Amino acid sequence: MAIPRPARIAVFDSGVGGLTVLAAIHRALPELDLRFLGDTARLPYGTKSAHTVERYALQAAESLLRDGDVDVLVVACNTASSCALPALRQRFDIEVLGVIEPGAAAAVAATRTGHVGVVGTERTVASGAYAHAVAALDPAVSVHARATPLLVSLAEEGWFDHPATDAALRAYLLPWLGDPAVQQIDTLVLGCTHYPVFALALSRVLGDLLDHPVRLVDSAEPIARLLARRFAGAPGQGTVELFATDSIERFERVGGLFFPMAHAQVALVDL
Ligand code: DGL
Repeated sequence: MAIPRPARIAVFDSGVGGLTVLAAIHRALPELDLRFLGDTARLPYGTKSAHTVERYALQAAESLLRDGDVDVLVVACNTASSCALPALRQRFDIEVLGVIEPGAAAAVAATRTGHVGVVGTERTVASGAYAHAVAALDPAVSVHARATPLLVSLAEEGWFDHPATDAALRAYLLPWLGDPAVQQIDTLVLGCTHYPVFALALSRVLGDLLDHPVRLVDSAEPIARLLARRFAGAPGQGTVELFATDSIERFERVGGLFFPMAHAQVALVDL
């Protein structure tokens, strides 16, 4: 009888934010072999054009899938998911999962007011990807999106719970929540994989600005649950290979705030 080949999942992001998704997958499937690429040399993706993000995403995926030994590619970057999924699915012959649809599905399931907020990068917000994904699931739900690009740098700085982060959140959210339709949001999608680290700060600032609770939605958990159902019992050794396109030292230091680096080997890769 043939011995089953170990399953392997590859995950990529523009930087260390996607490690929040890797961490959720690793918690759900500790036996599975995982491979992650953070394209730290070209971060941020969120301020780039759709064409450039698509090109970067294809190169990152090419590098991760080079040896052909991967079953699923997870695009753990909302920006790349919002504009590169069709090109990735066309180019590669394996399943490619993005983070927008799971986040949109979780938001539609959670909202009671029918008003969902999304915070993300400029590119993700400009793409309208969440509005499209939510409309496909429930056209009665309204999506209100706000670009909050500075949060990516604050996350990479490790300022998860810091006065500067609260100040940035207030500066972004206060004018946005001045719109009566936006005030009705009861669910906020963390539409950037760097943002789950701000759950505490966001809850605190939203608590000050709104008189009702807002549920935060992070697509890492739905993706991990989906993969856990798919790969339950699959063989593997629980190896975690990490690749970065710039400074390993910085990747280990900053990435260590998002993922327990002791479990992993980090290597530099050139795209
Ligand atoms: N982590 C990326 C995302 O989910 C954004 C960071 C960037 O701008 O590169 O969109």
